[in-house]
Amino acid sequence: MQGSYRRLAESFRHQCNWNKPHTRYTFAFFTCLLVVGAYLSTSILDISVSVNKELPTKIIEIPLDCSSTNQTKTCPANYYPSALPTIRPRSSSILLSCPHYFHWIHEDLRPWKDTGITEEMVVRANRTANFRLVILNGRAYLETYVKSFQTRDVFTLWGILQLLRRYPGKVPDLDLMFDCVDWPVIKSSDYQGLNALKPPPLFRYCGNNQTFDIAFPDWSFWGWPETNIKPWEQLMGDLNEGNKKLRWMDREPYAFWKGNPKVAEKRVDLLKCNVSEKQDWNARVYKQDWDKEIEEGFKQSDLAKQCTHRYKIYIEGSAWSVSEKYILACDSVTLLVTPDYYDFFTRSLVPMQHYWPIKAEDKCRSIKFAVDWGNNHKEKAQELGTAASSFVQNDLKMDFVYDYMFHLLSEYSKLLRYKPKIPPKAVELCSEAMACHAQGLEKTFMLDSMVKSPKESSPCSMPSPLEPSALKQLIERKQASIKQVELGEQKYWEKVQDQQR
Ligand SMILES: *[C@@H]1O[C@H](CO)[C@@H](O)[C@H](O)[C@H]1NC(C)=O
Ligand SMILES: *[C@@H]1O[C@H](CO)[C@@H](O)[C@H](O)[C@H]1NC(C)=O
Ligand SMILES: *[C@@H]1O[C@H](CO)[C@@H](O)[C@H](O)[C@H]1NC(C)=O
Ligand SMILES: *[C@@H]1O[C@H](CO)[C@@H](O)[C@H](O)[C@H]1NC(C)=O
Repeated sequence: MQGSYRRLAESFRHQCNWNKPHTRYTFAFFTCLLVVGAYLSTSILDISVSVNKELPTKIIEIPLDCSSTNQTKTCPANYYPSALPTIRPRSSSILLSCPHYFHWIHEDLRPWKDTGITEEMVVRANRTANFRLVILNGRAYLETYVKSFQTRDVFTLWGILQLLRRYPGKVPDLDLMFDCVDWPVIKSSDYQGLNALKPPPLFRYCGNNQTFDIAFPDWSFWGWPETNIKPWEQLMGDLNEGNKKLRWMDREPYAFWKGNPKVAEKRVDLLKCNVSEKQDWNARVYKQDWDKEIEEGFKQSDLAKQCTHRYKIYIEGSAWSVSEKYILACDSVTLLVTPDYYDFFTRSLVPMQHYWPIKAEDKCRSIKFAVDWGNNHKEKAQELGTAASSFVQNDLKMDFVYDYMFHLLSEYSKLLRYKPKIPPKAVELCSEAMACHAQGLEKTFMLDSMVKSPKESSPCSMPSPLEPSALKQLIERKQASIKQVELGEQKYWEKVQDQQR
């Protein structure tokens, strides 16, 4: 725009030269008029075009309507696709590609790729499921089998309802079973052989290389009231602010961990790496005192205040742990004790790019080497920290978490070989039915994480499945890089031993 103003001023100076001899006034005057006229007409056009471009289509807000839930607990009909004007995608709708970890949607659904999914298979997954969820015409219907631990089921369902508010009418009809317990249960070895049954599709928060469970974002993205962990969107902002306050160089030059060791043997084992009078493995580890913390509302567990060390250890609990994203977000180097489980995004983390691999069977020496290396290669160590937090801030923002759910559910729905119907014992579920009657922190987190308007642009564009060779290469590259760290570590300890002789 500035350029065109300058050009206009130039042309005024040339064409509208009032100092020219009288005889030329008329000519100059008309030319000038022409130029001004032309400018005005184009500039008006210009403005109208840019209005179209810059003002988004009117944002439709869908407030939480608690009036109709007062006595009857029915769901209002105001935010379903039939009640909404169609949302025009933005004119310049260049599709945004999804982050790399969306590839794993194809892998998780591969067991049913050729046969599809029948109702018999889905129903068979009821053995351990906490609930069955059916989506029909953008509405959700729930049959609860067993209440989950804490509010895992509540916030998982809340998340799915927010997805329906975000993409009204776009989430296809489906029927799924969800298990909120930590560890995966659909063992692949039970479904091998020619006459074997097809595995039942079961959604949960994690999987491992011996199971077919389908990984879905965990409840903590919408909040975890029992531990006072805020919805991810807010918490990510807090963590980002915290990072700015304490630079990497000013942080404690040790590896920090704090958590509940009781849930896993390997965590108890990690406690042995703590600093003592005899040894310093560069680790500073702390037990979380759950009873005391519950009493104090988890004030000692403010995650945004836990980015105080240059290195942070991630170690699994009874299965994957929700803490991974909080640790990666710290700007510190994540020391990742070789995991057995994955959740929906962790399979795309790259060793020596997003984290430093720690040997599960030799943790203390591995940690000592990593911290020594980092303190001697501060720039490279900081790069590892920054790469992890930008992965989290960019690829794992809520927009993409919702898009992951959207694509996973859409791909899953494509595999269904039957038309889902409302199970006899199911009840309709909507944000109102959950939030209007909720109390305390539960209500706060629901309102804080509520999707207020449908998204005007389309979901990110889903990557096509990786070729088997590309998938193999990905895994091999990861293993090679871990091997390289192990070799470095071995050399380091040989040198230490030589010096001690
Ligand atoms: C909802 O219930 C409360 C108390 O039960 C009552 O005071 C209020 O008037 C009711 N609102 C509507 C819209 O029915
Ligand atoms: C699970 O499904 C089977 C049929 O496959 C049925 O007999 C059983 O009652 C179901 N269990 C629950 C808890 O609904
Ligand atoms: C680890 O060592 C620190 C420093 O001595 C101590 O404060 C902390 O309680 C120890 N952690 C455990 C789990 O013993
Ligand atoms: C599966 O995971 C286990 C434990 O994490 C590991 O020892 C094993 O090598 C893995 N197997 C394959 C085929 O990747």
